[in-house]
Parts: sequence; C-alpha cells; structure tokens
Amino acid sequence: MDSAVGIAEGKAVNEGAVDAASGTQAAELSVILPSFNEAANIPILIDLLDGVMTGIAWEAIVVDDNSPDGTTEVARKIAQVDPRVRVIRRIGRRGLSGACIEGILASSAKFVAVMDADLQHDETLLPKMLAELRTGDTDLVVASRKVDGGEIGEGLSSIRAWGSNIANGLAQKLLNVTLKDPMSGFFMIRRDRAEEIAPKLSPQGFKILLDLVSSANGTLKIKELPFTFRERQHGESKLDTLVTLDYFGLLLAKYFGDVVSVRFLMFGLVGASGLVVHLVALRVFLLADMSFNAAQTAASFVAMTSNFFLNNQLTYRDRRLRGVQALVGLLTFYAVCSVGVLANVGVANLIYADPAYWWFAGTAGAIMGAVWNYAASSALTWRKN
Ligand code: GDD
Ligand code: MN
Repeated sequence: MDSAVGIAEGKAVNEGAVDAASGTQAAELSVILPSFNEAANIPILIDLLDGVMTGIAWEAIVVDDNSPDGTTEVARKIAQVDPRVRVIRRIGRRGLSGACIEGILASSAKFVAVMDADLQHDETLLPKMLAELRTGDTDLVVASRKVDGGEIGEGLSSIRAWGSNIANGLAQKLLNVTLKDPMSGFFMIRRDRAEEIAPKLSPQGFKILLDLVSSANGTLKIKELPFTFRERQHGESKLDTLVTLDYFGLLLAKYFGDVVSVRFLMFGLVGASGLVVHLVALRVFLLADMSFNAAQTAASFVAMTSNFFLNNQLTYRDRRLRGVQALVGLLTFYAVCSVGVLANVGVANLIYADPAYWWFAGTAGAIMGAVWNYAASSALTWRKN
C-alpha cells in the first residue's frame, strides 16, 4: 500500500517517468492533432513525430470529427500497434477549436502541443518548443510565421496572407494581444494553465490560440519561435468564410469584455440581416398589392426561413441540424415563432395607421417577433442534447 502511494507521488512530480510495475512510460508531452479528412496525412505525420521526438516521452491524440474519409479508422489502426497514439472520435460535432480543447482535456501530460494534422506545421520545432517550456520560465510557446526567421512560405495564398494580416492587426489593436501571430494553429502550453483557462474558451472556429491568450488576461508568459508554414500536400483546407466571420465574432465579444457571448453577437447579426430581408419582402408584397396584414405575415415567414438557415449555418454551427432534423427544426422554428408572428403583426398593425410609415410598422413588428424567436429557438430548436 505504502509503496503504491510512493510510486503515485513520484509520478506526480516526475512526468515521463517509467512505472516500475507496468514498465510503461507516462507521456511528458501530448501532441493534439485535430483532424477532419486527413486520412492520407496522419500516418506520415506519426512517422515524422516518431523521427523527431528522440528521448522525449510523447503521445499523440488524434481528435477526429467523424471524417467521411475514414481518418478515425486510419488513426485507430496505428494506435493498435503504437500505444503512444490515442484517438478521440467525435460524432455530431464540428470545429477546430472544440476538437483542440477536447484533446487538451484528454491529456494528463505536463505539456500539450496543438498542431495541424495536415503536415503544414514543421514538426522539428516540437523539441525546441518543449525545451523552452521545460525551463519553467515560459507557459506558452507559439510557432509564429511572423517573427524574424518565420515565413508564410508556400502555405497561404496571397489573398489569405492579406486576410491573415488584417485579422492579426485587429486582434492586436482590439485586444492588446502582443502576439505577432495570434492566428497560428501551432503552439505548446503547460497543461495546468490550459486547463485553468479551458472553461472560458469557445469551441467554434479556428481561433483557439487568440482565445487562450485573451482569456488569460495577460497572465501567460509567452515566447514565439519562428517557423515556415508548409504547403498542403493532401486534402484541402477547411478555413472558410464562416470561420472568418466567427473569428471577428470572437474579437468583438472579447473586446466587449465577454459581456455578450459570441453566440449572442451572431444572433444579433443574423437578426439584423433578417430585418433587411423582412423589409425587402414586405415592400415586394405591398407592391404586389397584397393587404398589409398578409404582406407582413408573408414577409415574416420569408425572414424566419432566412434566419433559420443562417442561424443553423452560423450561430448554431456546432449544433447544426441536417437532413430530416433540419426540416423538423425549421418546422419547430415556425411553430414557436408563429407566436412571434402574432406579436409581430399585432404590433405592426397597431402602428400602421398611416401608410407613409409602413417601414416603421414593419420594423417594430419584426423586432417584436425577433425577440421571441431568439428566446424560443435556443430553448427548443437548437436545444442541447
Ligand atoms: N477535428 C476537427 N474538426 N479538425 C478540424 C476541423 C474540424 O472541424 N477543421 C479543421 N480541422 C483540422 C484539419 O484537419 C487540420 O488538421 C487542421 O485542423 C487545420 O485545418 P486546415 O483546414 O488545414 O486549416 P488551414 O491550413 O487553412 O489553416 C491553418 O492556418 C490558420 C492561419 O492561417 C491552421 O493552422 C489554423 O489553425 C490557422 O488559424
Ligand atoms: Mn492546413
């Protein structure tokens, strides 16, 4: 009994130690590999890691969002013969940040690295990053494309490099983040610090590093090391317009001190777009000689449909309803919102005494409906399972 406690205590202060009883070695470093459709890249990457990590007790945690190309199976095959490889298969969820957070939380190592699984990140940097953290003077090491010696290389198209510069500049101005490359997806952090910040992180989008650093409120000791972003060889990038929108959502939410959530901001943006859709539809229906009540009702349905699909794509990206579920979702959305439509038409009708103020009546009605829609949809349509 005593000796078992002794071994457990010894391990707690000495990660990476060999367990005397089982002969196995605990990892000092977990490399989190978020993946979506990277079946061709995972085996190559694990080989590369094996090659550069001499003398380091490491493990790789592949966090795959049920990729249709069979990435999970490919990773599992490797894990069956290599105990350093672990696999988390997530079903019904998508999102790079969320996958990274889940991988980090599945680790018990002292240090965790987050690295793309598509071979664009230079694995030879890992031992250097680890050496930096081992000194104890640094909490977070970022592989940066923007410090001297680092390069975008062939990895980014010129339009993306331009967008990436704007996003960086905004992050630095709005959030006082002094990082040269806050968009980097390649970093290593003390797990205890990451675990402490984890409850504040947003699982959507690509901005895990910026989120970590801004949520830590300047308490992280950071070091940036240069690296060259490689060109992708197999598969394709998942960074799209939605990811970019989401990034700006995070910037705004953090700028306002997290008083409003990214989701709420997204709600607001979709709502605003719904208002425009509503007014355009209302004008069209009125021009087509519909009665005001009929036109306002029809315009509400057009706006609701547009709001449903936008919210499903953006606001509730992580709980996105698909196929039959999306149809059911749309119907429940109509059902709960029909109460909103009643309020909407009622309010609008009260105000619509003078036809010159059609737009004011329409707006007031739409706002009334929208408030109800937001409350009802988060509780019913996109409810958390
Ligand atoms: N599990 C999971 N779920 N993994 C994902 C998801 C997802 O929804 N989306 C992307 N990934 C994985 C990819 O499979 C890849 O391993 C890694 O995350 C990066 O995704 P890419 O789609 O290759 O991103 P990129 O190369 O365009 O973007 C890179 O540069 C950006 C800055 O320009 C990444 O390093 C980003 O993190 C970085 O912000
Ligand atoms: Mn990539």
